[in-house]
Amino acid sequence: MLLTGRTALVTGAARGIGRAIADALAAEGADVAVADVSPRVEETAAAVRAAGRRGAAAVFDVADPAAVRDGVGRLAAAVGPIDVLVNNAGIVDNVAAVARMTPGAWQREIAVNLSGAFHLIHELVGGMAERRWGRIVNVSSIAAWGGLHLQAAYAASKAGLLGLTKTVALEHARHGVTCNAVLPGLIATDLVQAMPAEIREASIRATPARRLGLTEEVARLVAFLASEHAAYINGAEIPVDGGLSLNVSPLASVREVREMRRPG
Ligand SMILES: NC(=O)c1ccc[n+]([C@@H]2O[C@H](COP(=O)([O-])OP(=O)(O)OC[C@H]3O[C@@H](n4cnc5c(N)ncnc54)[C@H](O)[C@@H]3O)[C@@H](O)[C@H]2O)c1
Repeated sequence: MLLTGRTALVTGAARGIGRAIADALAAEGADVAVADVSPRVEETAAAVRAAGRRGAAAVFDVADPAAVRDGVGRLAAAVGPIDVLVNNAGIVDNVAAVARMTPGAWQREIAVNLSGAFHLIHELVGGMAERRWGRIVNVSSIAAWGGLHLQAAYAASKAGLLGLTKTVALEHARHGVTCNAVLPGLIATDLVQAMPAEIREASIRATPARRLGLTEEVARLVAFLASEHAAYINGAEIPVDGGLSLNVSPLASVREVREMRRPG
């Protein structure tokens, strides 16, 4: 197992990718603290305990620095000092063209997706540096690279996470702490299943793998980055997207269609 004796904290772990990450870290031997705005996060902690690890849950909003400080304190008291932080909590509820995006909606998305990660890192990185071992994984998105129609706040928050990731890596590599970003493409969670079917189908067609990703496929990469094996990987941006971020050239798609039509 990759994480025996380690203690992790995963945000946004009530469902979706965060839930899969908590399950994967527990399966690799870690004790896992989980946080979310949803009280359903208790179910994740119960699953961690059912897997034979220590598990604890706290309900707080990652955008609120005082609530983060209080919640992190309670979780560390329950499971011990945190070795592995996974900043996964995120929202995508602000869909509008830039000209119609309200400042309040912009600020909320930045507050949760970007400042939330900062608040958690701010609380935990000092202890990791003192203990000379730590792993931070930030869940960004391929939207950080390509932008996203009607989701400027989301894309900007996820791109901001990359700058935060690299800076933490620069500041703390010499203390045995790594900070990396994973960039999911389209993953089959409630979030994506709630998209209009037409948009979801078009996105699957644009994905070279021609399918949605599984939450476990993101979680396995996070577990590896959290492990000793990844000690020399720092400040990296790693896509988990079935090749979607490669598909930037429309010419490639046209050529592919012609190839497919060719007999034999
Ligand atoms: N699903 C995808 O295709 C996809 C693609 C790229 C990136 N991502 C990123 O992966 C992460 C997880 O996505 P998901 O699809 O599992 O989403 P999801 O909506 O299913 O889960 C997100 C979780 O975060 C929690 N959360 C939301 N706001 C919070 C806050 N302020 N404080 C604490 N918890 C909060 C929610 O309650 C929820 O449990 C997000 O950061 C998302 O941006 C997802």
